[in-house]
Amino acid sequence: MSILDKHGILEKNVTLLALFAFLVVTIGGLVQIVPLFYLENTIEDVEGMRPYTPLELAGRDIYIREGCYVCHSQMIRPMRDEVERYGHYSLAAESQYDHPFQWGSKRTGPDLARVGGRYSDEWHVDHLTNPQSVVPESVMPKYGFLSAKLIDGAHMEDLLATHRMVGVPYTDEMVENASADFRVQANPEADYDGLLERYGEKVSVRNFDREPGISEMDALVAYLQMLGTLVDFSTFTPDASR
Ligand code: HEC
Repeated sequence: MSILDKHGILEKNVTLLALFAFLVVTIGGLVQIVPLFYLENTIEDVEGMRPYTPLELAGRDIYIREGCYVCHSQMIRPMRDEVERYGHYSLAAESQYDHPFQWGSKRTGPDLARVGGRYSDEWHVDHLTNPQSVVPESVMPKYGFLSAKLIDGAHMEDLLATHRMVGVPYTDEMVENASADFRVQANPEADYDGLLERYGEKVSVRNFDREPGISEMDALVAYLQMLGTLVDFSTFTPDASR
């Protein structure tokens, strides 16, 4: 009996065919999945990455709540047109503290992975309040109501502790000081040394919307202004050995 005839037996017997198909899929699956259990980390560590500050994390929650990800991606693909338009392609490490990640799947508006520092705070506030005032042909909705909603940051300890539960390396000190750190980041007159000690010198401390009180607008702009700014690409070299 040739191998072709034997294959014929398989093809004519549905139970045998299902059994062998199952075996093949199982082996293929194991080959792909098992090695991952033996890797300590599938994400390359990259210098400069740090967890979000409480104010940025609050802004990120607003970004998710308002569905910004429906129109905006945060994932620059390693293709020339994207890199020329948006900057260095996104690294896995840049979303390592994102739960859930914000890669998105649709670009009605531009990618935002490196929008941090591209515009002034004022531009962002004007744009979010009325996108058509700065980009007349824009189809982006207005988010001016964010300025009217003040947040006190009382839930920041819980928010950081929850992110720690899913793997973000917040220290005890970061969690304990979360509400205070939240308040000082939007108030340059306060003593923010502790915040910089915990999150690094590069953290921006400003009154982002230039209005008294910390509003959802402050938090969202703080988040947008740090996007893609943590890794210094003038010194970054991909570690191909891992
Ligand atoms: C209905 C789709 C849509 C939604 C929802 C949306 N945007 Fe946009 N966004 C756009 C479009 C289109 C543009 C390009 C025109 C413009 O600049 O307004 C844009 C531009 C931007 C820009 C400027 C980017 C650049 O590089 O010039 C930022 C920042 C931005 N949006 C932030 C947000 C945030 C934050 C939210 C959620 C609060 C949001 N967008 C929700 C469609 C959307």
